[in-house]
Amino acid sequence: MSPKKQKLTIVIDGPAGAGKSTVSQALAKKLGYLYLDSGALYRCIALKADEKKIPPKNTKALFLFSKRRKIQFKKGSAKQLVFLDGKNVTQEIRTPQVSKLASQYAKLPLVRRALLHQQRKVGQKGGIVGEGRDLGTVVFPKADLKFFLVATLKERTKRRFLELQEKFPTQSISLPELKKEIQKRDRQDAARALAPLKKAKDAISVDTSAMTIDEVISTLYKKINVILRAKGSKDLL
Ligand code: DC
Repeated sequence: MSPKKQKLTIVIDGPAGAGKSTVSQALAKKLGYLYLDSGALYRCIALKADEKKIPPKNTKALFLFSKRRKIQFKKGSAKQLVFLDGKNVTQEIRTPQVSKLASQYAKLPLVRRALLHQQRKVGQKGGIVGEGRDLGTVVFPKADLKFFLVATLKERTKRRFLELQEKFPTQSISLPELKKEIQKRDRQDAARALAPLKKAKDAISVDTSAMTIDEVISTLYKKINVILRAKGSKDLL
């Protein structure tokens, strides 16, 4: 099999703003792999559950509700688009309000169970780059390559601020408020009982605080090739 044809499963976990999305998308594109944005799944559930007024405490209803949602990823001109039950929600799921809600719904074991199946289905044949919080620990524990990206809270807040400014230019965003919210969400994601934000034992940590996105991408490429060579395979990139 030629090295390009190896259908690897690559996962990138870490807290919000560590650089996962941009890096995962770039890597997936370069490899011709699928990009699995697991956070978008939780965001979609939160968006629609809130719209339908199904509160997080109604866990049984949420299980069926989550299983029934049709979430699709489609190629966009620049970035991947997200469709929820046929509607393009790419922009809508990125609001600060949905970020807050997503973390609350993502705590629920039944919601996680419903979405676990969908994620494994996407990744069953390999050839994916997935990003999230528990991809290396729970969803794809046997992934070929696992990364855990981290960055200081200050840097992650700055990145989120710039991202929100670009996406929602008319909204005023308070930097100290955003910092507090990110900190709260991190705590919530890391403290939950099921599938918390955690580095898998065999994941490689990369601190992206002082790196540009291009530097993160090239660091990951190098690490991937080192590992593949150690496994006796040829370079992938
Ligand atoms: O990566 P993100 O910010 O789009 O994720 C949105 C929320 O979903 C965030 O609070 C963490 C949660 N999440 C999760 O619990 N497990 C994942 N695999 C991905 C995201």
